[in-house]
Amino acid sequence: MRAPHVRRFAGRSAFVEAAASDAVDLMATAIAARGTCRVALGGGSTPRPVYERMAQADLAERIDWKRVHIFFGDERCVPPNHESSNYRLADESLVARLGSERAPHVHRIAGEDPAAKAARAYAAELGEVPLDVVLLGMGGDGHTASLFPGQPELAERNARVVATRSPAPPFERVSLSLRTINEARAVRFWVTGEDKAARVAEVFRQIECGAPSLPAAQVQPSSGELAWLLDEAAAQGL
Ligand code: 6PG
Repeated sequence: MRAPHVRRFAGRSAFVEAAASDAVDLMATAIAARGTCRVALGGGSTPRPVYERMAQADLAERIDWKRVHIFFGDERCVPPNHESSNYRLADESLVARLGSERAPHVHRIAGEDPAAKAARAYAAELGEVPLDVVLLGMGGDGHTASLFPGQPELAERNARVVATRSPAPPFERVSLSLRTINEARAVRFWVTGEDKAARVAEVFRQIECGAPSLPAAQVQPSSGELAWLLDEAAAQGL
């Protein structure tokens, strides 16, 4: 199985600049092609500076944000104003910074609800139209979105949104399923830091030998394009 496309960047600032510009390009391409962009944002800590960069005028003005539908790759089951909320991360670092004249449609996962109820509701809101862009991170254990190693939801092939349980708090999660991620038109991994290097190398080994067991290794879009954007620290094992 061919190795995914990799773009490596010397340092964190070069990574942020490239990831933000690439994401804006993908979104603008979707709007030009279909009149709208359905993008699923990733969570965790890596995306924050990239979202903040995307909200800066020189990049933000390249997108007609009222044609953008923001979804979430996953959410922790916490209220939207909770410090762990991926919705709050996106609101603080991107949406609120765009200003009222650039107001995307934001489709929040109801983190305040029980995970199974929130997952059912989100699947209905997401619908069956493939996402144009899915932005992902990778945890040190090889998880992505909130799909964790060894979890039964990883094998889910029908549901588009699943309730999962994280080994680290917040434990209850809602996540796009691999089906939804792999149906997307474009998928990006944003991974930085030396602490991720060994796991990145393991993921790539699994892909190349055709035995993907880690969640991040199972992200192989059926027809969409996939790229990993890494800083040199995270890419050093490749
Ligand atoms: C989440 C994310 C998760 C994240 C990885 C990496 O909700 O936590 O969706 O998949 O991308 O855990 O997180 P960091 O960027 O903080 O390393």
